[in-house]
Amino acid sequence: MAKPKKGKKRGKGGDRIRAKKVDSSMPLVEKKKELSISAIREGTVLDHIPGDATFKVAEILHLGHHNGTVSVAANLNSKSMGKKGIIKIEGKFLTQDEVNKIAIVAPDATVNIIKNYEVKEKIKVKSPDVVDNVIRCSNPVCMTNNEQINTKFYVVKKDPLKIRCHYCERYMGKDDLEIV
Ligand code: CTP
Ligand code: ZN
Repeated sequence: MAKPKKGKKRGKGGDRIRAKKVDSSMPLVEKKKELSISAIREGTVLDHIPGDATFKVAEILHLGHHNGTVSVAANLNSKSMGKKGIIKIEGKFLTQDEVNKIAIVAPDATVNIIKNYEVKEKIKVKSPDVVDNVIRCSNPVCMTNNEQINTKFYVVKKDPLKIRCHYCERYMGKDDLEIV
């Protein structure tokens, strides 16, 4: 069996740039906070994810299969949200469809598009009205669990989440969500 290829060795450049990026006007505590999750050069930072939804967002985006660096931080203290999560994805820009999917579990998330270390765009997510093939129906006898059919849910309420299965009409809330 072929050995898995090792990633191309990179120089120290990335780190050097990163270190320079820390704003010297920041108080020391803030700097330390910032350094706990490195800034990214190019990609997406998802911020303001509710504390309990961070890993669901990672699942929805299939980040386990992403080749670039992915940093996931959950249960960070946030003044406005209590606990929040942040996900930084180097080298990935989300599609509108992906942004909508995130809104299901993280209705107040911010999507920051980073280019050359700068925040180029800040998008507030918006919950979709229909969710296709993202969530598994929690009803074991639902046809989507027994036949090769994509799931489909209607978003009845966005926050707190309430969705209804198109096929069996079961209602589900955020605690019932299992990602397809
Ligand atoms: N960020 C990053 N890499 C960069 C630039 C920004 O990881 N090169 C991250 C920051 O750490 C932050 C998020 O992207 O988590 C948004 O950055 P910014 O808009 O500068 O932060 P805030 O003003 O705190 O954002 P908001 O107002 O949305 O809370
Ligand atoms: Zn169903």
